[in-house]
Amino acid sequence: MKNILVIGSTGQIGSELTTELRRTYGGDHVVAGYIPGAEPKGELAAGGPSAIADVTSGEQLAEVVKKYQIDAIYNLAALLSVVAEQKPRLAWKIGIDGLWNVLEVARENKCAVFTPSSIGSFGPSTPHELTPQDTVQRPKTIYGVSKVTTELLSDYYYLKYGVDTRSVRFPGLISYVTPPGGGTTDYAVDIFYAAVRGEKFICPIAKGTRMDMMYMPDGLRAAIELMEANPDKLIHRNGFNVTAMSFPPEKIYAEIRKWKPDFKMEYQVDPLKQAIAESWPDSLDDSAAREEWGWRPNFGIGAMTRDMLEKLTEKLG
Ligand code: SER
Repeated sequence: MKNILVIGSTGQIGSELTTELRRTYGGDHVVAGYIPGAEPKGELAAGGPSAIADVTSGEQLAEVVKKYQIDAIYNLAALLSVVAEQKPRLAWKIGIDGLWNVLEVARENKCAVFTPSSIGSFGPSTPHELTPQDTVQRPKTIYGVSKVTTELLSDYYYLKYGVDTRSVRFPGLISYVTPPGGGTTDYAVDIFYAAVRGEKFICPIAKGTRMDMMYMPDGLRAAIELMEANPDKLIHRNGFNVTAMSFPPEKIYAEIRKWKPDFKMEYQVDPLKQAIAESWPDSLDDSAAREEWGWRPNFGIGAMTRDMLEKLTEKLG
């Protein structure tokens, strides 16, 4: 039976991925890694073991990996794009120095490693329409620089040491469980909270600005399916373009209005978020993921909107 460590288990992706992995592999086999101050609570704390696993300490990671005989690490420690611009040194320390520690521990203990990349790994000179799998990646944000480095360093550990590294380039992930913090695509989550609370939404992204998005259940499936994929079929490793939908703010607003006709939105464009959004693809070509490991999204914008509104209404009472 496989033993898994999730680093960043209380974050936006980690909190749901840990639960999903426990459903698949059994609660006792999935360790919820966290940093002090972000302890697992509720279902996450009750559903299986947890351990302090700070990426900035290689020794601490090695201890946890040995203690629980870990075979696979989902390394979700990172700062999102906007907050990373405010703390570039910290973004690098967590994203890259931290990744180095994870990869070293994986090499010594023969673990597979999943470290997400992002649409943020692309830049202004990337082709924006149907962005190919293999293309120009010259991001101008520290988030992007660290994600390109993540891809390259993960590939390097595979090629040089045979560490089984795999990743996807996640689009904006939309979920009703744990809110994201400090990303450019956060608006596509925040808009649902405003709609359900009956508040007017102030949109920080300009009309017409398209970005790729995905509903969290598809995102979790992408990570797990890639890690389970037959390695003989993988031509790429770090990281695969994956997408489920691409929309500008007015499109998601219109979708929500189908269910909430009184919902109002106003634009107050945030210059930093807007510049980042404009530098990212308008739509990704994810055919490599489809061909090499059978990737398919289940949720389009309509099904996602309906489910988000329903679940968030339950959650917010
Ligand atoms: N959701 C991320 C962000 O907006 C992109 O991967 O920073």
